[in-house]
Amino acid sequence: MEILTTIEEISKYDGKEVLIKGWLYNKRSSGKIHFLQIRDGSGFIQGVVAKSDVGEEIFNKCKHLTQESSIEVIGLVQKDDRAPSGYELLVKDLEIVHVAEEGYPISLKEHGTDFLMDHRHLWIRTPRQNAILRIRDEINLAIRNFLHERGFALVEPPIITATSCEGTTELFEVDYFEDIAYLSQTGQLYAEAAAMALGKVYSFGPTFRAEKSNTRRHLNEFWMVEPEMAYVDHEGSLEIQEQMVEYIVKKVLENRRAELKTLNRDVSKLENIKAPFPRITYTDAIKMLQEAEFDIEWGDDFGSPHETYIANQFDKPVFITHFPTKMKAFYMLPDPDNPEVALCADLIAPEGYGEIIGGSERIHDLDLMLQRIKEEGLPVEIYEWYLDLRRYGSVPHSGFGLGFERTVAWICGVEHIRQTIPFARTLNRIYP
Ligand code: 4AD
Ligand code: MG
Repeated sequence: MEILTTIEEISKYDGKEVLIKGWLYNKRSSGKIHFLQIRDGSGFIQGVVAKSDVGEEIFNKCKHLTQESSIEVIGLVQKDDRAPSGYELLVKDLEIVHVAEEGYPISLKEHGTDFLMDHRHLWIRTPRQNAILRIRDEINLAIRNFLHERGFALVEPPIITATSCEGTTELFEVDYFEDIAYLSQTGQLYAEAAAMALGKVYSFGPTFRAEKSNTRRHLNEFWMVEPEMAYVDHEGSLEIQEQMVEYIVKKVLENRRAELKTLNRDVSKLENIKAPFPRITYTDAIKMLQEAEFDIEWGDDFGSPHETYIANQFDKPVFITHFPTKMKAFYMLPDPDNPEVALCADLIAPEGYGEIIGGSERIHDLDLMLQRIKEEGLPVEIYEWYLDLRRYGSVPHSGFGLGFERTVAWICGVEHIRQTIPFARTLNRIYP
């Protein structure tokens, strides 16, 4: 009897008969043999259908099989060193579950990205997109395991919120009965409350930014991981960040080699990602840019050419620390030794992928927090609950947010962040 399995597991069944349930990805025929490219979601494998093995009836069924038809295939697993999976299937029997309509939109020729994004629901069936989504899943699991093993509890913040956290200009409004509410741009403030209850926590969910930036680094809906830690200072937070990034990369290298190969990722660059990561202050980064003839002054924000230049001076992700307090969100703790700058850092990925983490130590003093809220012109009333955290058992604490898709894009080495999320929401796209 054949054994029901998946393509990913096929190496366990060398010389045995297996049943694979999947789809026809592509087909070539030469007189007495059909070569079926079969995919089952876990991988791709070639099935060889010889008329002499399967008989006239099945052989003819295969002849008319359209691209993306659903099929159940019984075959003998055979080693084949030329095959990407290392194996091929000598087909013994084949059952057609559904014959796909003629004219499958994604043929194997090159298509433009807009066309592919319009057919994203089908595009994700192809090997590259498949590999990206598998790696995304691996990174997701690595993050959860890393944090769970270190005693962090997952706490889900609300997605519908009344307050803004990072500034008011980038919020999506929603009708909330008689009121207006917003889609959350970060779970941080709630994570802070949870940290005072559970010590070490993280949130991991979708966040929303109504930014009108149409770049390869921006989505309007993206996922963020936000650890928040009571009794941890700025430096302690940086250490967790670099360990977490090292761990994620290690897990992908351990478990997703085949997918990295499908993506032609230069893995030597990833093998080098080991903590500690270099640190440079904002002020030194400005000097470095000025020496390289960039037109930039202290107090200016970095654009992507600046970030890329800085990243290129290092072969690992680099922390830019101590940004001007005025440039950053109201909750960041001004450096007690120099309040002009905050105890914060952005982590810039190598190879031009930009900022993958933003984080800081938080203000824990009530008066200072009130002062910063007023300086930023924010309405104090809606932050009352947040101020309570400074009234009752306030402690030094820190946290950060890792942009999930930017991290996936960097590790996969894919050009555009829209390929790293199943269904992207960008300035010009809400379909499919
Ligand atoms: O730097 P940001 O805005 O930080 C926060 O929201 C903090 N409240 C996080 C915290 O301390 N808990 O965003 C964090 C990260 C960025 O470093 C970037 O990687 C990613 O989120 N990010 C985006 N990713 C895709 N598309 C966008 N429009 C993004 N905006 C930010
Ligand atoms: Mg940031």
